[in-house]
Amino acid sequence: MCGIVGYIGESQAAPILLDGLSKLEYRGYDSAGIAVFDGEHIQVQKSIGRLKVLSELTHDGATMPGTVGIGHTRWATHGAPSKDNAHPHFNQDETIAVVHNGIIENYLKLKKYLEGKNYHFTSDTDTEVVAHLLDYYYKGDPIEAITRTMHRVEGSYALGIMFREHPGVVYAVRKDSPLIVGHGRDGNLIASDVPAVLKYTRNVYFIQNEELAILSGESITFYNVDGEEIQKNSTTIDWDINAAEKAGYEHFMLKEMYEQPKTVRDTLNPRIKNGTVVIEELGMTDEEINQIQRIHIVACGSAYHTGVTAKYVFEGMARIPVEVDLASEFRYRNPILQENDLVIVISQSGETADSLAALREAKNKGIKTLGIVNVVGSSIAREADTVMYTWAGPEIAVATTKAYSAQLIAEYLLAMRFAQARGEITESELSSYIRDLRKLPEQIEMLLSNKERIQHFANRYISAKDVFFVGRGVDYAISMEGSLKLKEISYIHSEAYAAGELKHGTISLIEEGTLVAAVLTQEVLYKKTISNIVELKSRGAFVLAVTNTGNTEIEKAADYVIYIPQTNRWFTNSLAIIPLQLFSYYVSVGKGCDVDKPRNLAKSVTVE
Ligand code: AGP
Repeated sequence: MCGIVGYIGESQAAPILLDGLSKLEYRGYDSAGIAVFDGEHIQVQKSIGRLKVLSELTHDGATMPGTVGIGHTRWATHGAPSKDNAHPHFNQDETIAVVHNGIIENYLKLKKYLEGKNYHFTSDTDTEVVAHLLDYYYKGDPIEAITRTMHRVEGSYALGIMFREHPGVVYAVRKDSPLIVGHGRDGNLIASDVPAVLKYTRNVYFIQNEELAILSGESITFYNVDGEEIQKNSTTIDWDINAAEKAGYEHFMLKEMYEQPKTVRDTLNPRIKNGTVVIEELGMTDEEINQIQRIHIVACGSAYHTGVTAKYVFEGMARIPVEVDLASEFRYRNPILQENDLVIVISQSGETADSLAALREAKNKGIKTLGIVNVVGSSIAREADTVMYTWAGPEIAVATTKAYSAQLIAEYLLAMRFAQARGEITESELSSYIRDLRKLPEQIEMLLSNKERIQHFANRYISAKDVFFVGRGVDYAISMEGSLKLKEISYIHSEAYAAGELKHGTISLIEEGTLVAAVLTQEVLYKKTISNIVELKSRGAFVLAVTNTGNTEIEKAADYVIYIPQTNRWFTNSLAIIPLQLFSYYVSVGKGCDVDKPRNLAKSVTVE
């Protein structure tokens, strides 16, 4: 996700901003920009692509003299990667400059309001709305303008702000997006994350939600959302720089697993309005949805696995036929597509060659296409008729976790929207589904807090040769993902099987001590899968069961049980995947594998 840096002190700001942004490149971005006060005006330079383009443009900052500035690397959410959409953003008379990390969920409503007050926009971003709102509330007091703006915006934000009329100050405020303040020897800094400031100071303040920091070259003062001054204690950072890029996590994969509650919220919240599902980007009325007779979901790898989950959820909830295809198969089998079909292509990167080719195959046949994509402005996002972003932020680890979880949320929402339009669910069912979805982030957090127990169990299997994952219905879909996670980062052979399929061959592979992970979250299928567990146990398997809290019956059959909190039967994959991710992660760590960059794999497979 985006990176923010700000500096005020005795040194030239631009080189410090560029250096700080370079330490945040790991967060992923597609454009960058800096703003520096030159003694009279706020100068801004922006560029798309890598940070070095901006460094070359500004001769490493030499063309932007001044000792006060803010900088930004943008991970596009609203508006494709472009110079106009890059930050910093100005108000109309360029007296206020803003950099932002997060998502302003009510930006469209605010934009409309401001346009009604004769404000004109030059970008597609939600951030520009903040710049104009600050202008709207600014009557000479920056703190008043900022606190009033904070009361109007909904969503997540970390903001760095400069007011030309107050050149000796940088302002910073946050809500649900990280922001820190560094107190250095020859100046003070703000940043999205610790790595950006470590070269200048290890004395850091962590701003809490809805707190405001005001930095001059010598001092830092803090205020709460009501504009009252508050005292804060600083922290001394003892991380080394490399560790800090992972915010203290040992690997990006673990960090991204722990970001899943946030990515679930960021994907979910903007699409729940007034107690119902609103997917503006779908661009379909109820009537148009009801004309859709069949859905084809096409993807690769983990994205394909979410498609298998989506098949069960769509067909179960919305009663619409769904076919799921591996993109590499779909593109060459001359698929039979009909006029009223919808092809949904799921892709984190939006650049996977097979998925892009499958999208083009569907478009060549004149079929409506929808992309569920994480990278804004990527090829699939641009070429699909409509795109539903997953807003998971940049995913650095090759093995997907947070993007996978965000894809599931997008698919649940789509299924609910289709079920609602087709009259397949009642209002009270819809409300109950929404309640369950809103609980998922804290339930995921609870499961993640269980990591030591799973780490202990995983250490017993670092020498395993074969591990099987089995389940029925959506539990079969999650078994596929659990199996892929294990093999791709620990290099242990693994397969996923429909539990009912075991006796048709695979059970011959079970030997004394073979680990089988059985997922049982579908109450109506418990007994069936328990009988499969009994079959496995009778051939010597060691059975790890992942099941719902309360299904204690399982303890008579399985050897080791991991319970997940109760949720709607359609949404259990979002919880069952957490222990499976942690298990794979700790087996890989225990084997000393390169967790974030497994051998032979790429983050985005842009070739056939
Ligand atoms: C997932 O852990 C893998 N890295 C891989 O299967 C991935 O899901 C697949 O390559 C699809 O990538 P995409 O979502 O970017 O299209």
